[in-house]
Amino acid sequence: MATLLHIDASARKSRSISRSLGTEFKNQWLSANAKDKFIYRDVGSAPPEFISESWIAAAFTPENDRTEEQISLLRQSDLLIDELSEANVIVISTPMYNYGMPAALKAWVDQVVRVNKTFSFDLNRGDFPLEPILSGKALVLLTSCGEFGFGKGETREEMNHLAPHLQTISKYLGVDATFELRVEYQEFGDTRHKESIEKAYKAIPRVINKLSTNLTTNA
Ligand SMILES: Cc1cc2nc3c(=O)[nH]c(=O)nc-3n(C[C@H](O)[C@H](O)[C@H](O)COP(=O)(O)O)c2cc1C
Repeated sequence: MATLLHIDASARKSRSISRSLGTEFKNQWLSANAKDKFIYRDVGSAPPEFISESWIAAAFTPENDRTEEQISLLRQSDLLIDELSEANVIVISTPMYNYGMPAALKAWVDQVVRVNKTFSFDLNRGDFPLEPILSGKALVLLTSCGEFGFGKGETREEMNHLAPHLQTISKYLGVDATFELRVEYQEFGDTRHKESIEKAYKAIPRVINKLSTNLTTNA
């Protein structure tokens, strides 16, 4: 039995392309893997707190030395990290805002990428002192953007700070394999947009199949 963690990040509740794609992915996953556990976190509707100076101080205070206030400050982070730790597959459905991720999703990232919880830090490792603590997870990125050409070798590749950022950070979420289904052209609303949506929906069963096979092989 696997656990699917689904994170929705769009500020839109209605007409959201990324939310619809995420819901479809979840439905197809659960109908193919009925016994799997499902955890849902809607950061678009209820963004996690931004981290603060006191939060950072609490995170860097050894666990046994934390004050009641520090323990309480880290409670939301503890909960979000528990959800992440449990997951075998993380699905993030998210819009592109200003060429990157929505602030609400970044707030989630800042809450879960935490010293001695999801990564360790050791200067004995030389120039790369950070190492992930979690491992073996797969990440599915379901993204939607208004413009187009954000893929590898395409016209706006260098303006894409959404998937590349999430892919870089995914190492510290314990991710070993990433898949992205991207819908483009939303602002144009033309046939290219329609085709882009169709292509993304069509790819869902293929991604699920691949992930299910990997999970069975590694079980
Ligand atoms: C605040 C905001 C910023 C946006 N910035 C970009 C952008 O930088 N590049 C882009 O291609 N589309 C941008 N868009 C368009 C969205 O990515 C597009 O509408 C997408 O479908 C939104 O996701 P959703 O349908 O799941 O809500 C932006 C939209 C909003 C509301």
